[in-house]
Amino acid sequence: MLKKNLIAIISLVIFAYGTASAQFEYVGAAKCKMCHNKPDKGDQYKKWTESKHATAMKSLVGDEAKDPKCLKCHSTAGNLDSKLVSGITVEEGVSCETCHGPGSKYKSMAIMKDHNKSVENGLITPDEALCRTCHNEESPNFKGFDYAEYSAKISHKNPKK
Ligand code: HEC
Ligand code: HEC
Ligand code: HEC
Ligand code: HEC
Repeated sequence: MLKKNLIAIISLVIFAYGTASAQFEYVGAAKCKMCHNKPDKGDQYKKWTESKHATAMKSLVGDEAKDPKCLKCHSTAGNLDSKLVSGITVEEGVSCETCHGPGSKYKSMAIMKDHNKSVENGLITPDEALCRTCHNEESPNFKGFDYAEYSAKISHKNPKK
């Protein structure tokens, strides 16, 4: 009986460790650039670098750049458990993976081509609720949030789709 319990506990620990180490990690925008930087397909990387999301850390001055209260919304990496950081930097501000999910597992060509496989490997589809986790009254500079208007400003759709 004791032996059985022990085996059960050990398997549980191994299982828990296995799922924890399979967590998706944040790789940073440079890793997405090589495939999502083509003008005829929507120029996602360039459009992001021209958006205020990519420069969000530039708005924080002095100690604000280390203040978790500001990093929470101004930086993807600045608001992460360090175990999940794999290549992404605090300086890149509100990065791709805030809206699309951590890319360590979905970023390979074979997986990315397949929407369902990408979702199984960490891809998320951004919606209004996700935007509102930052675009809300907790922001000291909140200017209101209209989803249609704000989405249009950052849009990087593939024109062929
Ligand atoms: C090896 C090339 C490659 C890399 C690296 C890559 N992607 Fe992709 N991605 C693709 C391809 C191919 C598609 C499918 C065709 C398309 O929609 O352009 C795709 C599709 C997508 C889509 C639409 C997915 C859907 O099914 O709705 C998103 C969002 C996306 N990628 C985000 C990212 C992000 C964020 C990164 C970096 C973490 C990244 N990709 C890295 C090749 C890549
Ligand atoms: C992780 C937090 C976060 C999320 C999620 C987020 N944003 Fe932002 N967004 C910011 C920050 C921070 C700024 C301001 C950057 C700056 O100017 O320093 C910003 C700025 C913007 C701006 C520029 C506003 C202006 O004054 O010109 C637009 C447009 C925008 N976001 C749209 C969106 C949309 C649409 C979504 C959802 C698809 C979204 N954001 C999700 C944090 C976020
Ligand atoms: C709840 C999320 C959130 C928090 C927390 C937050 N910000 Fe922001 N911040 C935003 C968003 C979103 C914007 C873009 C303004 C808008 O369109 O509402 C922004 C814009 C800014 C701007 C640009 C103002 C302008 O007029 O364009 C500055 C500066 C700024 N934030 C500083 C800070 C500082 C300093 C802190 C920490 C004390 C902080 N923010 C905390 C979300 C946040
Ligand atoms: C603030 C959130 C946000 C950020 C940051 C962001 N995206 Fe997106 N992305 C979206 C939304 C919302 C869509 C849905 C389509 C649209 O309106 O552009 C989208 C769509 C896409 C698509 C699918 C395009 C299509 O029509 O097939 C790709 C690929 C993509 N993003 C890649 C990226 C990459 C790469 C980065 C970083 C360099 C990035 N995104 C940064 C919110 C974001």
